[in-house]
Amino acid sequence: MNPMQKRLDTILSSKQETNAKLQMICQLLHDEFEHFNWVGFYFKNGDKDELKLGPYVGAATDHTIIPYGKGVCGQVAVSNEAMLVNDVHEESNYLACSIETKAEIVVPIFKDGVNIGQIDIDSHYKDSITAEDKALLEDLMTKVAEIL
Ligand code: SME
Repeated sequence: MNPMQKRLDTILSSKQETNAKLQMICQLLHDEFEHFNWVGFYFKNGDKDELKLGPYVGAATDHTIIPYGKGVCGQVAVSNEAMLVNDVHEESNYLACSIETKAEIVVPIFKDGVNIGQIDIDSHYKDSITAEDKALLEDLMTKVAEIL
């Protein structure tokens, strides 16, 4: 297991409250990956077809509620597939959080087969998010689902 996975596992198995663990995961990813400039969780808002912002690290965002289907986050809520956009200017269905954002990845979280939320990561660097990052995040979201 690589050192990053070890640190993530330590957070996940700690005795903190769930939201504190999610906040620590955001902080760790934000601090250790130079190209991860905004890291946050969104979750389905009750029985509404919308996402609500959860723990995050980075600049405050206007997008605290995102309707299903809108933006990259809203698309992933509907498609159930991770979405990697390495140039946000090429994505027409996109909600700009910051003019600095150039790339974005959203990975869904499945609990008992249901898409209940996601991690959203924004980068200031175009083409910076790799397939390896995606694999790490998919593995991490499987583990996050276990503590939800
Ligand atoms: N860019 C996202 C909106 C959320 S912010 O990036 C934090 C989207 O298109 O869904």
